[in-house]
Amino acid sequence: MRARPLGRTGLTVSPVGLALAALGRPAYINLDHAADLGDDRSVAALERRAHAMLDEAVGAGVRYVDAARSYGRAEAFLASWLDGRGAGAVPVTVGSKWGSTYTAGWRADADVHEVKDHSLGTLRRQVAESRALLGDRLDLYQIHSATLDSGVLDDAGVLAELVALGDGGVVVGVSVSGPRQVEVVRHALAAQVDGIVPFRCVQATWNVLEPSAGAALAEAADAGWGVIVKEGVANGRLTSRNDDPGFAAQRGALDAVAARHGVTVDAVALAAALAQPWAGVVLSGASTRQQLRSNLTAATLALTGDDLDALAPLAEPADVYWRTRSQLPWN
Ligand SMILES: NC(=O)c1ccc[n+]([C@@H]2O[C@H](COP(=O)([O-])OP(=O)(O)OC[C@H]3O[C@@H](n4cnc5c(N)ncnc54)[C@H](OP(=O)(O)O)[C@@H]3O)[C@@H](O)[C@H]2O)c1
Repeated sequence: MRARPLGRTGLTVSPVGLALAALGRPAYINLDHAADLGDDRSVAALERRAHAMLDEAVGAGVRYVDAARSYGRAEAFLASWLDGRGAGAVPVTVGSKWGSTYTAGWRADADVHEVKDHSLGTLRRQVAESRALLGDRLDLYQIHSATLDSGVLDDAGVLAELVALGDGGVVVGVSVSGPRQVEVVRHALAAQVDGIVPFRCVQATWNVLEPSAGAALAEAADAGWGVIVKEGVANGRLTSRNDDPGFAAQRGALDAVAARHGVTVDAVALAAALAQPWAGVVLSGASTRQQLRSNLTAATLALTGDDLDALAPLAEPADVYWRTRSQLPWN
């Protein structure tokens, strides 16, 4: 996998990045997550797993790692891994997020795992927490799941603080979620404080079930922003694990493309995201090394126009997609 620039941010990344939402805490919403983590979900066990995944990923050419304050101890695991690397180690670009706070106390059965708050106070608290762990290795800092309702994109105090963070050398970004990603991305593109646009990078959900943000992400790329794709396998729904009878037709289409190239379904899903001209990094949210190796094959998989045409009918209405996602249990 060859390194490449992330838009005009000045950051260097790789086509596939490693994401830590499923590795920084004992529970997450992905299909059968519990089975993959196994019984030992102690802090030490998950730190070992995160380090092994980071070694595997960077060994395979990954140059971007994605964390967040709300991913439990993801930043701490990343920091201890970075600390343990030798001086001559290949550089890795580090991104994290503020605006959601981890509240589960390392309990897989917690009622509430994370709480969102996009206030200036939370920004100041969390940037200090991220810096305490990552120091100047923090390259990209993103609002976590900005929505129009949260009002953060119209909060002059927060935008001014983000401009100052950008002036200090950190690339400022925004991640979006939900059925209205398109509007939120366009609102962020237009956000200004004293004539300055704080954001230079967007992270959004795009996959063959939920491609609705594509047009807005192309506009962001045209503006020189970096574009990071998350949930490329729809939290496991676009993997061999999804044997839901209600998904049989979509699964059949995915299997046919996978068979044509001799690869796995998840690789096809991630390759479809990589085929988007505006995609800077496509995240692997793998929680096992076997999943990671499978995901990484997407980096060298060139889907044909016919393949992409065969996958286009899998697209769901955005509100249907996000309703299904909201019902995925924490496990
Ligand atoms: N708002 C935001 O900013 C936001 C929101 C969501 C995600 N993200 C970022 O995007 C990253 C990825 O998103 P995500 O993890 O939510 O979704 P995802 O990448 O669509 O799903 C990843 C999950 O799919 C399953 N999987 C992957 N490869 C597999 C394979 N080969 N075989 C079987 N199962 C496989 C694993 O589930 P199991 O864990 O069950 O094995 C894995 O954890 C996150 O880590 C996070 O960094 C950001």
